[in-house]
Amino acid sequence: MPTLLIRNARVAREDGTVFGGDVYCENGLIARIEGQLDIEADESIDASGLLLLPGVIDPQVHFREPGKEYKEDLGSGSRAAAKGGVTSFLEMPNTDPPTTNQAALDDKLARAAQKCVVNYGFFIGATADNLAEINGSSPACGIKIFMGSSTGSLLVDREEDLERIFANGTRLIAVHAEDEARIRERQRKFAGRTDPPVHSEIRDNECALRATERALALSRKYRRRLHILHMSTREEVELLRRNKPAWVTAEVVPNHLLLNVDDYQTLGTLAQMNPPIRTSADNEALWQGLHDGVVDLIATDHAPHTLQEKQAGYPKSPSGMPGVETSLPLMLTEMVNDRCTLAEVQRWMCRGPAEAYRIVNKGRLVSGYDADLTLVDIESYRPVRNEDMETRVHWSPYAGKPLTGWPQYTIVGGQVVYERGRIREHVRGKALRYAA
Ligand code: DOR
Repeated sequence: MPTLLIRNARVAREDGTVFGGDVYCENGLIARIEGQLDIEADESIDASGLLLLPGVIDPQVHFREPGKEYKEDLGSGSRAAAKGGVTSFLEMPNTDPPTTNQAALDDKLARAAQKCVVNYGFFIGATADNLAEINGSSPACGIKIFMGSSTGSLLVDREEDLERIFANGTRLIAVHAEDEARIRERQRKFAGRTDPPVHSEIRDNECALRATERALALSRKYRRRLHILHMSTREEVELLRRNKPAWVTAEVVPNHLLLNVDDYQTLGTLAQMNPPIRTSADNEALWQGLHDGVVDLIATDHAPHTLQEKQAGYPKSPSGMPGVETSLPLMLTEMVNDRCTLAEVQRWMCRGPAEAYRIVNKGRLVSGYDADLTLVDIESYRPVRNEDMETRVHWSPYAGKPLTGWPQYTIVGGQVVYERGRIREHVRGKALRYAA
């Protein structure tokens, strides 16, 4: 495997301090990090002026393969990831067919090995009757339960089914926490309204809180590892702040930090997602939860739908927004605006996801770790432009917003996969491994 030398980088330490230095990568690993390295390598990068970070791990994306490749596939999704400084992703099981058994998981792994330019891992999806599969299929980063219905057919909302899943097995359970009964009741209540903000009224804060309370109660009862996906409300933050078991982790997506119901005015159904965008008070509470460690990490819930589908009019419009290639610049722009620190960005987007999912040897810029890295430019600003988006759906809810922190190079397993606008399509990522 070719060696790589990154010279003159501003190397980020985990405490948020930065030093000028060189990094040498060999056999896919970070081999040496020093002030100056007098060493020859097969490829070298002059990283003057660029900030070197661990590659981002995005622990919640929907890449639509198999079944809806016209929206995204594992190749296009992985290229969007590379462009966004994301070197590993965990992908959700609500594909068509859904990933609910070993054969479907093997199929995804084989497809990913063929076409992914970054590292990949997959969830196994729970149904009411696949207990043996969710516990036995491997490698999987965890079990996904849709407690409320969203895109796709997966749903487990009956108490006895949830209880059986939590009671049997040890693998991490990640929940989409929205209360299905309340969603249905409120869909009936608000029937006839087609204005996009009604989406946030139907799937209100109470919907999310009830399901999160339910998942937490089951997790406590069985001491079962639980990850709360895309937490969106101040009430859930308060719930966890009062009592968060050591084996529970929680996540937010940038959309729930940076968008709120006021944005329906300009974005309409483009801003429609599940769980929905909330109020500015919820934005604030989620930021506070992150700062306090009540919320552990950031994922994007990258959920591509075409612009045409999104513009079909509510409620025909599907829920979800693309995000995998904008999350790092969005968060680094917040950092430059003093909303968070370099240490926090690394913890929330690199080390945090690796630890929550026990991903082996990832998420840190430390010698001996996998050489998954990104070099970003935090000096200049460039607006998000739909035509620059690598995702197959070519749009972003942040189009027009000037951001800094755009990746200039992304490195996966010691190989440059993205270089200043160009993707090296021949690079291949690897399947992630998880500690027991
Ligand atoms: O808005 C969403 N879109 N939320 C989900 O839970 C699923 C996702 C999708 O797959 O489109």
